[in-house]
Amino acid sequence: MQPDPILLGAASDVRQNAYVPYSRFKVGAAIRTVSGSVFKGCNVENVAYPEGTCAEAGAIAAMVAAGETQIAEILVIADSPEPVPPCGGCRQKIAEFAGQGVLVTLCTTDGKARGMTVADLLPGAFAATHMDRA
Ligand code: THU
Repeated sequence: MQPDPILLGAASDVRQNAYVPYSRFKVGAAIRTVSGSVFKGCNVENVAYPEGTCAEAGAIAAMVAAGETQIAEILVIADSPEPVPPCGGCRQKIAEFAGQGVLVTLCTTDGKARGMTVADLLPGAFAATHMDRA
């Protein structure tokens, strides 16, 4: 598939700023919201390793900080042999702000791309409805 060129450019640009002294694995993410705005994020590691944050989480934080909460499309890129998939935690974070049919494009820096949906990435997601009896 052909990735969206604007999201690909945004994610590739922000990936350069990833702070990755521990893994050396730079990731970039870009979100388009339903309003048409684009938000970017990169991974930010920490010497206390679990405190690091993923690129997707950074892009989501930028979106919410700007007052938006509805993802229309998201793209993730890394220098990976195969299109880089969001980690489990990021799948749940994306699902918080995206419908099941939203396109998630996984990319490599050498031009491979794979399109998946939120439902593909997180079947059976935990949702607010599961707390209906609470
Ligand atoms: N990483 C992301 O930024 N997004 C993902 O979905 C996968 C993993 C980052 C976290 C860490 O900085 C590095 O990649 C290696 O796990």
